[in-house]
Amino acid sequence: MSEICNCKFSIPRREGFLFAGVLQTRRTETETGSCDGSMEFDHLMKILMVGDSGVGKSSLLIRFTSDTFADMSSPTIGVDFKLKMVNKGEKRVKLTLWDTAGQERFRTLTSSYYRGAQGIVLVYDVTRRQTFTSLSDVWLKEIERYSTKEDCIKMLVGNKLDLESERVVTKKEGVDFARRHGCLFLEASAKSSTNVKLCFDELVQKILETPSLSADTSALRQNLLRPGHPQDFPATNRGSCSC
Ligand code: GTP
Repeated sequence: MSEICNCKFSIPRREGFLFAGVLQTRRTETETGSCDGSMEFDHLMKILMVGDSGVGKSSLLIRFTSDTFADMSSPTIGVDFKLKMVNKGEKRVKLTLWDTAGQERFRTLTSSYYRGAQGIVLVYDVTRRQTFTSLSDVWLKEIERYSTKEDCIKMLVGNKLDLESERVVTKKEGVDFARRHGCLFLEASAKSSTNVKLCFDELVQKILETPSLSADTSALRQNLLRPGHPQDFPATNRGSCSC
């Protein structure tokens, strides 16, 4: 596994693969900055993407972090990982974004990644009812079982809004579901970019407004960088140049 520093970033890049049955996560650095300490942050948040395979979790993340979209994308193998820095007023917030595979065969593997997440994005596809049904049949149960933060913020996202003519899940159904289960809610499109930034902005804002979570994300900066706990945060992301 090679580590690369091009002097622009201090964070090594790694490609994801399964080796001897152990998941290796793929990390993609999307922050801009140089080796001048500009990667300092006030809050460090862990956000998890969950939902059925093909609903567009990876596409939403790629739209958010790189502002691009691919019409054909391969399914996530295990878990993928990205970083993004956002500003909230005076505060710099570093987001660790964990993209889990929707395929059932990875369920055991991905379950450990709920641990410590302050925000969970639950994604369904507005053109496939089964993905909406799975929210209560599968994903809320997974959150209930594996999430370690009681007041973790849930954001429900109905993706593929650009396919309005193929829609089978109404906006009202989304709103009602979100109300019933205490989620924030948005419909979005990774393809057209509609509401993608807003989705993460609102989630981050809500985490910051929740005292227990906000205090937690601040403290993480000091305490969470423990080697050997990749599901929390990679130990190398300290914001100082290693080259
Ligand atoms: P897994 O990795 O298997 O869990 O899937 P995923 O939820 O990450 O889905 P992914 O982002 O790979 O997208 C699946 C397919 O849907 C791809 O062909 C995407 O191009 C397409 N797609 C994703 N978002 C949108 C969208 O907003 N609109 C349209 N029309 N297609 C989308």
